[in-house]
Amino acid sequence: MDGNGRWASAHGLVRLAGHRAGARTVERVVDWCRDACIGYLTIYAFSTENWSRSKAEVSGLMKLMGLMLREKSGAFLKSNVRLRVVGRRSDLPLSLQRQIASVEEKTAACDGMQLLIAVSYGGRAEIAEAARRYACDVRDGRADASAPPDDDAFRRYLYAPDVPDPDLIIRTSGEFRLSNFLLWQSAYAEFWTTPVLWPDFAKADFDAALEAYATRDRRMGGRRA
Ligand code: FPP
Repeated sequence: MDGNGRWASAHGLVRLAGHRAGARTVERVVDWCRDACIGYLTIYAFSTENWSRSKAEVSGLMKLMGLMLREKSGAFLKSNVRLRVVGRRSDLPLSLQRQIASVEEKTAACDGMQLLIAVSYGGRAEIAEAARRYACDVRDGRADASAPPDDDAFRRYLYAPDVPDPDLIIRTSGEFRLSNFLLWQSAYAEFWTTPVLWPDFAKADFDAALEAYATRDRRMGGRRA
């Protein structure tokens, strides 16, 4: 959701106003994905590195996430969207953790689209945590160290192992970095970037991303046909 801060300064507003506008874009993008029959959408809402932002911005973002969950849980349920959160949720304020658990529980049976929100998420942290969980399984006799896990078996230790790898990663505001997003899962993801700031991301941009994706030749490391 890059560009919320820049959008706010371009409009003479405080950064949090940019995040509020960014949250409205999320609502629209969820609808566009549902209409396009996209099964999974992961939104990078807050990275493990974002904790270093000002106290006011961090607490404003936590409140905004809580508000969005409160206001939107009914709509998710109605439109059959299952909400899940990935990341180090124990870092989050307790009230937000409870809210997340409640929306996840309410929407657990929804089998339309899955909306994953990455909060206090870092790809490196996810992989390191997975390795720690595997080590604990070895220690406690649940895994056999003489037959270490292959890629598929290791994946089971990630936050959402059942979720397919992303086909397309969209990055806004002219950035070209992965920024610690889904490091394991994005091995063969296609990238699409745009200079548009996230709050301004429109249906035409979304359509352009899908059209570009449709032209990509995905060989997954194999040979050209
Ligand atoms: C990146 O823009 C955006 C963030 C770090 C936070 C985004 C989070 C929300 C909008 C909260 C609500 C969302 C959900 C899905 C519950 P930036 O601040 O890095 O922008 P800049 O690069 O222009 O400074």
